[in-house]
Amino acid sequence: MRDLVAETQLSPRDLILPMFVADGIDQPKEISSMPGVYQHTEESLIQAIREAQEAGVRCVDIFGVPREEDKDAQGSPAWDPEGVLNRALTRVRKEFGNDILIMADTCLDEFTDHGHCGVLDSQGRVDNDATLELYVAMSIAQARAGAHIVSPSGKMDGQIGAIREGLDAAGFEDVAIMAYSAKYASAFFGPFREAVGSSLEGDRRTYQQDPANYRESMLEVDLDIEEGADFVMVKPALPYLDVLAGTAERSPVPVAAYQVSGEYAMIKAAGANGWVDEQAVMMESLISIKRAGADQIFTYFATEAARILNQQV
Ligand code: PBG
Repeated sequence: MRDLVAETQLSPRDLILPMFVADGIDQPKEISSMPGVYQHTEESLIQAIREAQEAGVRCVDIFGVPREEDKDAQGSPAWDPEGVLNRALTRVRKEFGNDILIMADTCLDEFTDHGHCGVLDSQGRVDNDATLELYVAMSIAQARAGAHIVSPSGKMDGQIGAIREGLDAAGFEDVAIMAYSAKYASAFFGPFREAVGSSLEGDRRTYQQDPANYRESMLEVDLDIEEGADFVMVKPALPYLDVLAGTAERSPVPVAAYQVSGEYAMIKAAGANGWVDEQAVMMESLISIKRAGADQIFTYFATEAARILNQQV
């Protein structure tokens, strides 16, 4: 009876798996604050994608982790076809073709030696407009490498419009844009900084949003849709379900939510201590995100959750 009347269904096809590929390692390296999540080699990345695919996951989102010595003030490995992420995208597209949807993270923070999501001006502030052209170059390089979707996560104003125009002009009209529209300056991103070996000192409060604000997110969502976003996203997920519901209410395009590193880490840590039932909390958090209005959910639990969902059918 419960299944018959359930108002919300979660399916493996709703899930997007974020993954990390690192340069200069010869075996996968577990991220200590995210047990079960790895910095991958190209080989282990392919293997992990295959496992996700077998579980029914349709989309992966790949982040690149360059070698420390390759980082610079501009983040140039980001648009270099030989940069770690573009190499991996090329390889993954070659292995999987169109059998798995390949999303690329389109942001400079992993590649800059200062760790910010954009380039800095002479006073050390993030320069919004100078950053846009680099995002365009990065998007085109990712499309060329085989990404089906680019996902600008750097929160520069005007990034969606600039990238859409740049991709179209380069002949990539079919490459879609996942817009990180409502993205908060969140402490829940903590473990991610370890995951990508971030060089950031300070914070991102000049370009990411204040957790106190709701209305601002609705404006950001509207602007991104106007600029050509194919999906809009809310991030983090669980602490921002109100923002997610509001976005789902107004958006004519699919709405995604990102269950971020800190959300994952908390569930893993409490689970490991026996303080909560890890699997139950994982599934409850995902169905709640779906219920609040997410069409797609980015989650480091994607493969594991998909396997559980398959057993339930
Ligand atoms: C920035 C980016 C971040 C995450 C995804 N893209 C970190 C940040 O904005 O500081 C966080 C993902 C997570 O915490 O799981 N390019």
